[in-house]
Amino acid sequence: MTAKIIDGKAIADRVRAEVKEAVAKRAAEGKTIPGLATVLVGENPASKVYVRSKQKACAEAGINSFGHNLPEDATQEEVEALVRKLNADPNVNGILVQLPLPKHLDEEKVLGAIDLNKDVDGFHPINIGRLAQKGREPVFIPCTPAGCMVLLEEAGARLTGANAVVLGRSNIVGMPVALLLVKANATVTIVHSRTKNIPEVLREADIIIAAIGQPEFVKKDWVKPGAFIIDVGINQIEDPTSKKGYRLVGDVAFDEVAEVAAAITPVPGGVGPMTIAMLLKNTLRAAELKD
Ligand code: GUN
Repeated sequence: MTAKIIDGKAIADRVRAEVKEAVAKRAAEGKTIPGLATVLVGENPASKVYVRSKQKACAEAGINSFGHNLPEDATQEEVEALVRKLNADPNVNGILVQLPLPKHLDEEKVLGAIDLNKDVDGFHPINIGRLAQKGREPVFIPCTPAGCMVLLEEAGARLTGANAVVLGRSNIVGMPVALLLVKANATVTIVHSRTKNIPEVLREADIIIAAIGQPEFVKKDWVKPGAFIIDVGINQIEDPTSKKGYRLVGDVAFDEVAEVAAAITPVPGGVGPMTIAMLLKNTLRAAELKD
């Protein structure tokens, strides 16, 4: 079998075009233009790149973005005061505090200070709590996990009754995507650094979500033929043949796993573009909630 490649870039472009159209329609109807505030604390180079690309995507969709940068040594009170100011700002529909925050800051308290109805990242403890509970719905679903679910749907994966294995238990991806899969009636196993015999667990999986940050960790003979593979990893590995000296790979050994899987996301061009598309969608929804 040769896997179908799930084109995350194309799917994300479609979502972004839909958001752009909806924003233009709002403008034509005299409704508010959605606004996203980004909060970046410190100088983490990867975070700077992510925030810039989120702002650029907003501009392309016609969404206003308001960038706020605080120094590395900003205090807890300063960060929370900024969040409170943005909560009160009627032009701001969504607030995104880029993670990770510098170590001296209490991330849970910062995220908990965000107005639930502006929590477009879906990381507020109440939104995550609702995700974990039966019969409850969060106001917003975290962007990367939501993107993973869209990719599975687009690939035609059957979720009800499927064995889904999530590699990784991070707050940003692993845990929320596991909760979403449970909501979608899959039987979910979360695999992490203390799990015994990971290959054996993976071999039972109809669906694998890889989010552990280990380059090309998942091997072909760990994958059940016909499985659906969503690769969230973005890892730099040395590559002297590349101009930059490195290239990006996922958490899955793409070439060999593609020989057995039913469908697989590439890196880059799989999950990455979906995160931004879902953020735009959440920001649009935040504005719609206020109409
Ligand atoms: N850091 C890595 N991914 C994310 C994300 O989706 N949102 C935020 N706020 N920070 C991140």
